[in-house]
Amino acid sequence: MEFYDVIVLGAGAAGLMAAASAGQRGRRVLLLDHATKLAEKIRISGGGRSNFTNLNVRPDCYLSANPHFCRSALAQYTQHDFIALVERYGIPYHEKTLGQLFCDDSSQQIIDMLDAECRLGGVTRLMQTAVESVEKGDRFKLSTSRGVFESESLIVATGGLSIPQIGATPFGYRLAEQFGLAVTELAPALVPLTFHADDAARFAALSGVSLDVEASAGKGRFREMALFTHKGVSGPAILQASSYWRPGETLTIDMLPGQSAAALLEASAGSEQKLSNWLADIGWPKRLAEAWLEGEGYAGRVKDLNPKQATRLAEALHRWRLLPNGTQGYKKAEVTRGGVDTEALSSKTMMAKAVPGLFFVGEVVDVTGWLGGYNFQWAWSSGFVAGQHA
Ligand code: FDA
Repeated sequence: MEFYDVIVLGAGAAGLMAAASAGQRGRRVLLLDHATKLAEKIRISGGGRSNFTNLNVRPDCYLSANPHFCRSALAQYTQHDFIALVERYGIPYHEKTLGQLFCDDSSQQIIDMLDAECRLGGVTRLMQTAVESVEKGDRFKLSTSRGVFESESLIVATGGLSIPQIGATPFGYRLAEQFGLAVTELAPALVPLTFHADDAARFAALSGVSLDVEASAGKGRFREMALFTHKGVSGPAILQASSYWRPGETLTIDMLPGQSAAALLEASAGSEQKLSNWLADIGWPKRLAEAWLEGEGYAGRVKDLNPKQATRLAEALHRWRLLPNGTQGYKKAEVTRGGVDTEALSSKTMMAKAVPGLFFVGEVVDVTGWLGGYNFQWAWSSGFVAGQHA
């Protein structure tokens, strides 16, 4: 039996940060993970260059049953704190778009940096360690494949359900339930959406075609690129909207964002141009123009549109309603929406209100960020805060 002040479960983004934060306060920390490799999600993130934070992080870029919950942690450890850490380690980075910061070279540099921060905090790390049970008396007692460990505090950083093939498990949710904490409804988020059979047939030839759009679902509205795939729609605008989408709802897509279709049509009134060529001239891929117009019941030339049809077409271009069949699931989702109910946690410390010493951080908590570095920032902020209090 070994005793630690703090045990951190899950050596991913939030767990590494929490372990380093607690260790550097002088706490004796053990970091456990069942995986072989450290922080696989950081490694594969951002196409191998990790979109590690966003310059524009603010609480309203996060979904949660309590949208204010993330406020305190994000203020206690900001994107600028993380950027300062990255700069201290001399890791070159750049802003790609919309405030998204990526490593110039490799996401491995972020993992190495966090590993070094853990070493500075004297953290003991055990990989390939399965946790068999967790009990709480005066202390937490963990039975694992490498023996029994006890601790005063336990930080759960086991992440969400996405990409089960690299080690995602529902462990953190089950542990929360074991200690009487509620878990909100879980769903894949930042995930491609799939077509019903008729749309799949209509857009079958469009795989790889993309367009600048504004996609809306629920309260989410995002102006970015959408991409047609062989199964449905993806691309940043769709991934973002997917986090707000619920099964059975339609997605509304403005296919000409920032422009007035009515004014463009009026300017071309009487034109001999085919409608598909007209759309191609204003920036649409020709194949998309043909398939989309056919599906909406339009053919022929611009001059053939009567005023009512022109109004209807303009409306359809700005408010195309697509009814997805579903999502591509956790295999393709970047994150899990929902998690440990924030009602049960202190937003200032991340500790369970009813279970002193038990903390939940990162994606396992019901806080889901937008695409673009927001989820890692939540992992850094919540991990840091728990490490300061555990
Ligand atoms: P994370 O998943 O990082 O870590 C959880 C750890 O717990 C893992 O090491 C796992 O092995 C371990 N674990 C799980 N169950 C366990 C058990 N039963 N016992 C022991 N250990 C267990 N975000 C972003 O901001 N920018 C980006 O560029 C990307 N890119 C990206 C790409 C892809 C393909 C995916 C899937 C996700 C992203 N994300 C992202 C999201 C981001 O990776 C994610 O939100 C964070 O990694 C969450 O950090 P956590 O530490 O909470 O979980």
